[in-house]
Formats: sequence, structure tokens, C-alpha cells
Amino acid sequence: MSPETVLPILRSVTELRRIVADWRRDGLKVALVPTMGALHAGHMALVARGLELADRVIASVFVNPIQFGPNEDFSSYPRREAQDAALLTSNGAGALYAPSADVMYPEGFSTTISVGGVSEGLCGVTRPGHFSGVATVVTKLLLQALPDVALFGEKDYQQLQVIRRMASDLDIPVRIEGVPIVRETDGLALSSRNAYLSATERATAPLLYKTLQDVGARLIAGEDAVSATAWGKSEVLAGGFGSVDYLDLRDASSLKPLDSLDRPGRLLVAARLGRTRLIDNLGLLPR
Ligand code: PAF
Repeated sequence: MSPETVLPILRSVTELRRIVADWRRDGLKVALVPTMGALHAGHMALVARGLELADRVIASVFVNPIQFGPNEDFSSYPRREAQDAALLTSNGAGALYAPSADVMYPEGFSTTISVGGVSEGLCGVTRPGHFSGVATVVTKLLLQALPDVALFGEKDYQQLQVIRRMASDLDIPVRIEGVPIVRETDGLALSSRNAYLSATERATAPLLYKTLQDVGARLIAGEDAVSATAWGKSEVLAGGFGSVDYLDLRDASSLKPLDSLDRPGRLLVAARLGRTRLIDNLGLLPR
């Protein structure tokens, strides 16, 4: 779509299905990029990959109330639809689906998708109910749009594994595509929540990725996971983070704990810097 074209903003499932049906009638493949808005270059990498795998990309923007805990940032989560629409237009998206909460969860809505296994542990411990909120809304988005492919960032690596499991278990006919993390030049993973960081916190934040790299090097050199991750946690705390929810080595696909890097692994971290909770992760292969 050229920057002069007005991006269609769809508010209802009917409008969404109509545009998808029109594209399909023209023989076009459709990609869906589910987001909660406050879009940045990380989201645009999802749009770009979507345009490689399909002819048209729909981005959804919906700040999903049921994936936030009672003391989390649902009400303060950044909402800026006009800026999001402009960014999507200039990056070639074909439509923006932005339903209201009433469209997504009409009066009487009572269904929850709960994924076992990969949802347990890590963020599943510190954010109870979060992944069932994610799985429920993503299931709905996939069934509303019925895309050929749906794209998710590896920044939310556990979420990606939950969605893969859910789509496979429920036989939803869609390809789930993970897209590598986009980082600032100093290594900080792009996130809509980085906007919460003060200048001092922003200067501290890249320590998270640096520590993942250092812990990764120790694991590749043969150090056991308990001692390497304990070292990493103490580095993060000494560097100015207030607390570490977890820093764990897991099997890259099942997310089961690993004692050492004896197969493809994923090192995952969640830590709090002031009032902001940051997550990051790193893929590791044994030497
Ligand atoms: O990653 C996100 O932005 C959200 O968790 C998602 C996948 C759009 C579901 O609300």
C-alpha cells in the first residue's frame, strides 16, 4: 500500500471477514500480525516478514484486558491508534483490525483457552492467568481472520511456544511464524513497555541482554545451569535491577528446565527495573 492510500481500519468481525474474503477471491495469501499497539520497529519486522510470506498483511491492535493481572498496567498501557495506523501504512500493511472490548468479549462471553505444559513456569508463575488470556484472544483472532500465516515476535518466547502448542492442539489451519528479536544498538530488546523507563533506567536496561550473552558463554563453555544462572542473577541485581523473577535455561521447544546445555536451549529472563518488568531471551546451541 502506498503511503498516500488510506489504511482501512476494521472494527467488526464482519468487516474483517469481508476484506479477507475479497483478497482470497483474488487468489491472495493473507498474514495476520496480532499486537497490542504502541507499534515500533519490532512490530514492523513482523509486518515485513508477513509480506514475504503472504500478499496482504492485517495487523490487529487490541489491548487485551484478560491477559493483564489485577495489579498490572492494563489502564496505563500506551494507546496511540493514529500513529500505529501511519506506521502500518508506511510499512505496507493492508488493513488494521482494531476491535473494541465489546466486539471481542460480548456480554455473556464465557470461554477460556488454557494451554498446559509450556504455559507453566517462567511468566506462568509470576503472571497467573496471563497465558490463558493470550491463548484465548489469539484463538479468537485466528478464527476471526482465518489467515494463512500469523506472526509473533521471539521477544515473547514463552508466548510463542504457547501459541504454537495451542494452534497445533486445536488444529487451527494456520502457519505460526516466529520472528527474531529486534534490538536497540546497545542491545535492549524493543518493547512497547520500554517507554516506561526513566533516563537512568534506560541506561541500565541493556545489562539484561549483556548478562544473557555472558551466561550463554558460560553455558557453552560447559558450566552447569544452576551456577551460570545464579551468577547472571547476581550480575543483574548488582547492576541496578530491583529483582529477578527468573533467569533460567530451558529446552528450546518444550521449555522444560535443562541442567546444562546438552541440546538446543533458550535462556530466558524477566527482571524488574523500577516499576517496569522487562523480559528477554537468547537461543543457545551446544558446542
Ligand atoms: O504479544 C502481544 O502483543 C500480545 O500478547 C498478543 C499476542 C497480541 C495477544 O494479545
